[in-house]
Amino acid sequence: MTQINLRTAPGHQVLAAAGKKALRPGGYTATEQLFAWANLQPGETVLELAASFGHSAIALAQRYDLRVVGIENNPDSVAAAQKNVAAAGISERVEIIEGDIFHLEKVTQQFDYVLAEAILTMQSAPGKAKVLAGICDRLKPNGYFLSHELRASGSDLDRIYQDLSRSIRVNAKPLSLQDWISTCQTAGLTVERHSAGPMELLNPRKIAQEEGVSTLINMCFNMLTQPVMRQRILAMRETFERYRDDLGYVALYARKEN
Ligand SMILES: C[S@@+](CC[C@H](N)C(=O)[O-])C[C@H]1O[C@@H](n2cnc3c(N)ncnc32)[C@H](O)[C@@H]1O
Repeated sequence: MTQINLRTAPGHQVLAAAGKKALRPGGYTATEQLFAWANLQPGETVLELAASFGHSAIALAQRYDLRVVGIENNPDSVAAAQKNVAAAGISERVEIIEGDIFHLEKVTQQFDYVLAEAILTMQSAPGKAKVLAGICDRLKPNGYFLSHELRASGSDLDRIYQDLSRSIRVNAKPLSLQDWISTCQTAGLTVERHSAGPMELLNPRKIAQEEGVSTLINMCFNMLTQPVMRQRILAMRETFERYRDDLGYVALYARKEN
């Protein structure tokens, strides 16, 4: 793995370096909600954007007997995901490719589902529109977009954006539930189901529950022994806590309009 600069690296890279597996605001709970809504059937196809280490792609292929293509732009994450897929023995059904979610036209196939978690939040308004247009193009008629993102509400969104971007060190522009729904609608994706809940990315109890006590212990050990990592993670947690009432996750199940 390439060494990252813990002072400047995007938050998700710092968390991954600390040993965190789920890099999404609603944890596995929101992901499971999306899978349940989709009523996935064997042989169906999924395109996953920002597949990271391939955990969702592997779960989809193993549990529902699907064919999954994952797209990810970090070469280290692509290599780790490909290794995880091979270790799971499902290389014939899961392909992880290095690529950019802004160039989905390079993936020529159309899919029954597109899954994207914790990636649209990081885009500007035109960026969100561009990626959503690409998602629409990659969906078959009546295909579904499965989305899991950060949600923000309140009267001072600009301040939340500034503080989030400062602590995560990456552009972060979460929308309100209503704005996520209308942004999807504008792109031709009709939200049929949605759910929202608290932001749990750095909730220790949730990490132990979903990712295992060993992951939590490993993260604590890494934070104790690496002061810069500790500062970065505590700064992120402090921001999430400060805006606890205004931040959360959203899960959306949206149909492509024909
Ligand atoms: C916050 S993490 C979310 C990862 C994963 N979806 C999850 O929920 O665990 C964001 C991921 O998006 C990837 N990423 C960021 N920009 C991207 C882009 N333009 N194209 C493809 N992947 C991108 C990062 O490398 C990282 O793996």
